[in-house]
Amino acid sequence: MIKNFLIGFGLLSVVAFALLGTRGEKRTAPPIEFFSDMKRQSKIKYQKPSDFFADGSGSRQPVPGTVPLGYDIPGHPFQNSEVPDDIRSPLGEFTAGTDYYNTGKMGTNWGTGLPVPVSADLLSRGQEVFQINCAVCHGATGSGNGITSKYGLLSIANYHQDKYRQMADGEIFDTITHGHNTMMAYGDKVTVKDRWAIVAYIRALQRSQYATIKDVPENQRPALEAQK
Ligand code: HEC
Repeated sequence: MIKNFLIGFGLLSVVAFALLGTRGEKRTAPPIEFFSDMKRQSKIKYQKPSDFFADGSGSRQPVPGTVPLGYDIPGHPFQNSEVPDDIRSPLGEFTAGTDYYNTGKMGTNWGTGLPVPVSADLLSRGQEVFQINCAVCHGATGSGNGITSKYGLLSIANYHQDKYRQMADGEIFDTITHGHNTMMAYGDKVTVKDRWAIVAYIRALQRSQYATIKDVPENQRPALEAQK
């Protein structure tokens, strides 16, 4: 009986020592891992090769067509634009200043007039950015009948109402920057230059709905009249 007790006590002491005996002591050997620690995990370190991707490189290129926020878009029509340096925002792209170009305000009032030269390039850029950001709600022609209107978004502004035809350019610019009631802000998504391009394009859309024969150059009018 006492023999069994001594053997049992001896074994228990060995187990207890094995588990607890060296706690608190400093060791230079690597710790025993019962389960693999999270220090070791399958991951790709930056600038290291990887078999996972077909090109063998662990680092990925940006998805084609995406642009990091706040950078100029390579080959973007504005890269060579004639926007004078003094009205470019110092950060180049997003609102950074209190002048008309950056805010749409002249003093405390909405200003009007485009602070960038109006060109075919500006309008086609405006069309592009408008179709990306605005047409889903405002519709391709700006009548407020974009696809979201079919899914229950109410009271989307129709640019062809007098109210919007008369709205100052600066106020439209500010609506893009800060949003308006249920419309969210685009100031963190659409660059200052692109906002003005959109304003120019909205003006073109507005004119398109109220065009008269007087808007057609005189030498092209007979051809149009003939089509009637
Ligand atoms: C998700 C839908 C949606 C998108 C996208 C959208 N808008 Fe709007 N927008 C609205 C709605 C809704 C209103 C009406 C807000 C109100 O006055 O209640 C509005 C109002 C406006 C107004 C009139 C503001 C005023 O003062 O009455 C302008 C100008 C405008 N939008 C321009 C734009 C431009 C430019 C873009 C693209 C950069 C854009 N919107 C993108 C939904 C949208």
